[in-house]
Amino acid sequence: MKQPIAVYPGSFDPPTNGHLDIITRASLIFSKVIVAVTDNSNKNPSFDIKTRYKMLADAAKNIPGVEVEIFSGLLVDYVGGKKASVIIRGLRVVSDFEYEFQMALMNRRLNKKIETVFLMPDESYTYLSSSIVKQVSRLGGNTKGLVPKSVEKYLKEKTL
Ligand code: PNS
Repeated sequence: MKQPIAVYPGSFDPPTNGHLDIITRASLIFSKVIVAVTDNSNKNPSFDIKTRYKMLADAAKNIPGVEVEIFSGLLVDYVGGKKASVIIRGLRVVSDFEYEFQMALMNRRLNKKIETVFLMPDESYTYLSSSIVKQVSRLGGNTKGLVPKSVEKYLKEKTL
């Protein structure tokens, strides 16, 4: 059976090693993985869209079958336009579930041909999130091992 194309959407503000773990796992299952960075400014991201794109493209450049793109508008429209049929989301802890469940079912209602697939990162990343990484960085903590090398540089340069 031909493996479908999957889209892994998110804010990636900034990308963490947990995100990279999910991208790597997805790349081993699907024929192509498009990591789609949202251009949705109402989340008030700390990093602009171009920087988030650059950080991800650099971090994922050696993972075969992975492309990074920017998207705006409805996710299901973007996924359909890419001839993809799967949305990947990472599930870390039980508290992720409610929001993810709501999004998955709304996306299914909007396009029933698109399936959401949840992947769990390595257990060492279950506590990791973009916001906690930003907090650690803002307060002068070491973010080594929490984010890709390319992201460490941006975190150090930025006043968060
Ligand atoms: O990393 P995030 O911030 O949890 O990712 C959220 C994202 C980008 C996947 C979600 O906000 C999204 O899909 N935005 C696109 C708008 C959309 O399609 N909304 C309706 C489906 S819930």
